[in-house]
Amino acid sequence: MKDDDWPGHLWLEGRTLVHLRSHQPRPSHMPRGPATKTGDGFLNPAMAPARTRSVMILSDAIEYGWLAPEGKLIRILDAMCATGVRSRRWRKEVPKQEKLRITANDLDNKSIGWAKASHEMHPIGDNHNWKPELSRFSREIEGNVEDGIHWITGDANKLMIQTPFQWIDVDPFGSPVPFLDAAIQSISRIGVLDVTATDTAALCGSAKTSAARRYGSIGITDSYMHDDAVRILLGTIARIAAMHDKTIHPILSLFDGHHVRVTVLLKRSKEDASKWSERIGYRIRSSPYHFQNSPEGNYSGPMWTGPIFDREIASRITVERAISLCSGKDEDLPTDWSLTDIEHSHRELERTVRHISESAELLSQEHLLVAIDDLGVAAKVSQIPSMKKIFSALEDAGFKACRCHMPEPMFATNAPWEQVIAATKKSAK
Ligand SMILES: C[S@@+](CC[C@H](N)C(=O)[O-])C[C@H]1O[C@@H](n2cnc3c(N)ncnc32)[C@H](O)[C@@H]1O
Repeated sequence: MKDDDWPGHLWLEGRTLVHLRSHQPRPSHMPRGPATKTGDGFLNPAMAPARTRSVMILSDAIEYGWLAPEGKLIRILDAMCATGVRSRRWRKEVPKQEKLRITANDLDNKSIGWAKASHEMHPIGDNHNWKPELSRFSREIEGNVEDGIHWITGDANKLMIQTPFQWIDVDPFGSPVPFLDAAIQSISRIGVLDVTATDTAALCGSAKTSAARRYGSIGITDSYMHDDAVRILLGTIARIAAMHDKTIHPILSLFDGHHVRVTVLLKRSKEDASKWSERIGYRIRSSPYHFQNSPEGNYSGPMWTGPIFDREIASRITVERAISLCSGKDEDLPTDWSLTDIEHSHRELERTVRHISESAELLSQEHLLVAIDDLGVAAKVSQIPSMKKIFSALEDAGFKACRCHMPEPMFATNAPWEQVIAATKKSAK
């Protein structure tokens, strides 16, 4: 179903042509922040980096075979697809489409109409059509497959309860909590759950009553609030997963601009799920902090205290890979795109993966997170040295350090706090 505004105006996200509503301005490259206008058929360009990373992780799963062994399919659900941009990007940009069965769902009829019209206007045309399997209850699933995407207009919770998937993307307005239980149930033995949360005031600790209600957590709005937000969401997913005999293994967990985005591998194992609380604890503000299982003093949590990246997968999220998979080729470009647009889109891809691969090693193990802005007071130096200088002083002392993909300048290290202070003092001289 097209509407009066169709076709809006064209934009290229990744390698995929999308139709923006006429009222939406041409996106500035590298837009940030929450959508100022929403409503049916709204596509938020600020979420493009999260979609690019999802194309990259899905491509990685197929290439390295860590989700579905040879011969097995990945049934993937874009549970709240809105204008279908994520599903259309999976369809256009992920290699080896024969391994994929993409389902795109939204409750809003107009959004699905816009999504289908966009897909029809820019077909892939590789004859990748397939028949949806019956639901868990041997019923036919509604909707139809068009040029390789199964479009459904319906409630995500109902669909996830009815049908098993190996990969689910949950991207609601606000908190994902109402969808987590059904998503975790839908993933049977092993699968990936990708979750976006835009209720950052609750996750970062400024909206205290919402935080307590939704996540059972307490936050502190200091330098660690963004890392806390990521870990509080992971902790909530781990708790619900354990209720369904499942464990989580974080692949990539980020606070990006105005939202939290976590990608976890879920596995069924009663034995491991019984130990879920071993990885849950509180961040106790000390010098500067430590995690422990029970709350004490000035604390935030409860939250996930384990690793937040998968070392191998995150180390492959590089600029080269982002450009090879997701940068517009000549044949993809809208006719009104200039060289400056192309240059900007490359820069956006660089920003999308910045600091991820180099922080893969430390964020996939126990580490200390340090906010550069806290170092002046803590190390009693009048001018905070550059990160580069601090890193080289830490490396001289036999430790590792790397910058993290965070809204503020922060780094991770395997050095203890005293060594960080010593390295700061030394490099400030
Ligand atoms: C933030 S938007 C999704 C954006 C989209 N994933 C993208 O990348 O452009 C949230 C969407 O959730 C849809 N929605 C809200 N409740 C839903 C439900 N119970 N089932 C399915 N979709 C729902 C809304 O219609 C809206 O399109």
